[in-house]
Amino acid sequence: MRHKHSDYMHWSKTQSRARFNLATSGVAPFPLRDLPTKLKELEINGDDSYGYAPLQQAIAEHHGVAPECVVESAGTSMANHLAMAAIIEPGNEVLIEYPAYGPILDVAHYLQANIKRFRRVEENGWAIDPAEVRQCVTPKTRLIVITNLHNPTSALTSESVLREIGDIARSIGALVLVDEVYLDAVYDRTPRTSFHLGSQFVVTSSLTKVYGVSGLRCGWTLAQPELAWKMKRLNDLYSATAVYPGELLSVAAFQHLNLLRDRARRIVDADRKLLRGFLAQQPAISAVWTDWGTTSFVKLRDGNADIFLERLRSDFDTSAVPGRFFEMPDHFRIGMGVNTEMFAEGLNRIERVLASAPGLDNSLIRGIGN
Ligand SMILES: Cc1ncc(COP(=O)(O)O)c(C=O)c1O
Repeated sequence: MRHKHSDYMHWSKTQSRARFNLATSGVAPFPLRDLPTKLKELEINGDDSYGYAPLQQAIAEHHGVAPECVVESAGTSMANHLAMAAIIEPGNEVLIEYPAYGPILDVAHYLQANIKRFRRVEENGWAIDPAEVRQCVTPKTRLIVITNLHNPTSALTSESVLREIGDIARSIGALVLVDEVYLDAVYDRTPRTSFHLGSQFVVTSSLTKVYGVSGLRCGWTLAQPELAWKMKRLNDLYSATAVYPGELLSVAAFQHLNLLRDRARRIVDADRKLLRGFLAQQPAISAVWTDWGTTSFVKLRDGNADIFLERLRSDFDTSAVPGRFFEMPDHFRIGMGVNTEMFAEGLNRIERVLASAPGLDNSLIRGIGN
């Protein structure tokens, strides 16, 4: 049976919520009333057959690329799907980072790719080691897939490492897919998109995570015009055209992008400060520190994160993402940028579970029989 689901997405939609919700990856919702736009100017139908020209233009300008390289899509999710589906044939070798955001693997499985992995190692700050990538590719590798920032760790890959990966890909005729949905959460000296690094780069992104307008589902891919066109033709099989009012509102969001981003930044910065202090005081957990990103990947030094998180949720109404969704069951992911009071109380409750563990019932967190 072909793989046709995402366990992570299902969990996220049905089980991730709690009163103190640290299972997020995007920032607080930006309300429509605060977007300087006139609702009277909204329209239901319009001309958007292979993309709405003003939105294509806005995305192109945001990245400094030509509009014919832009493919609109429903979020980065659909962008990743369209990009991989346009590039991969069943049986093609695809090299994906480990740990990885689950749905990227799910799509590759769904497309019947021959999946290979290269490791990011915690002791190395979760960085990509180009030597490791070089070792893992073969002449059959068609695509290398990475996230930058990395989900779940928020590790940033430098331009020089990206260039090395690009060189490796080019030497075997492969492409590099870089999911940059979190990249704009590097608030100072935001790196430019890796699409500028060479024609072997294909980039996906959206306004969903860093800008607080996930409901618009404004996502896109940057690809060379021929591949971009292939993706647009492929999208005819999926959603045909986009939601026109969503495209109009997305253009309005692009016109006020700094407003959206700065509002979120204040919350992300405040939460990050709290997290830093918190981690310094908790010997039972640790995380590779980054000064950017909306998520942090926390290691539970001695225990099973699933059991820990179950207790956190059932007794303390607090959620975080189990590391098993990133193939790392002794970790969990914490999200920043929604509400600092909620974040502080969520951390407080994590501390209470950690504090209660050794004395109360260590086996609960260790996992009986684990
Ligand atoms: C790395 C990565 N790519 C894509 C997505 C999906 O983003 P979107 O909401 O834009 O579809 C997520 C969501 O968590 C993500 O973490």
